[in-house]
Amino acid sequence: MIRTILHYPDPRLRQKGLPIARVTPELERLIDDMAETMYAAPGVGLAATQIGEQHRLFLIDIAAEDEPSNLIVFINPEITVKEGEQCGPEGCLSFPGVTEDVKRAAKITVRAMDRKGATFEIEADGLLAVAVQHENDHLDGVLMIDRMGVLKKRIVTRKMQKRNASSNNDDA
Ligand code: NI
Repeated sequence: MIRTILHYPDPRLRQKGLPIARVTPELERLIDDMAETMYAAPGVGLAATQIGEQHRLFLIDIAAEDEPSNLIVFINPEITVKEGEQCGPEGCLSFPGVTEDVKRAAKITVRAMDRKGATFEIEADGLLAVAVQHENDHLDGVLMIDRMGVLKKRIVTRKMQKRNASSNNDDA
């Protein structure tokens, strides 16, 4: 089932995700809903908190359009190592139409549980490292706008206000 993605400044985007004790059938259904929602958007990442579900869970698929899909499910993720710096354009399904440069670590190590409940660890750089850091921020109620300078923040806030005002009728 495709779920509604919350848009900034919905206050629910500021709620933190809570640790998941174990994988249940309900959680698997939520993961399926999130995958469907993310692919339909379309997006390369989606955190549970973006659809109003307070869990430490996000999905990422950065496969290019002409590649087979490669969905990675992160349950209770923890970024254990951050190295270096990179800065590049990011988008977010909670900020439709917004693309801005954000500073991130260049290389990370992340540990998480997959949808079978097994622990895994990934070392990532480039786009995957950016996506993991972006989605992991969502679980702490941190949004890309918090990682921008004052001026950019103001521009993005205004853009979102305008968008929300004009889509009040057709976006329900
Ligand atoms: Ni996002």
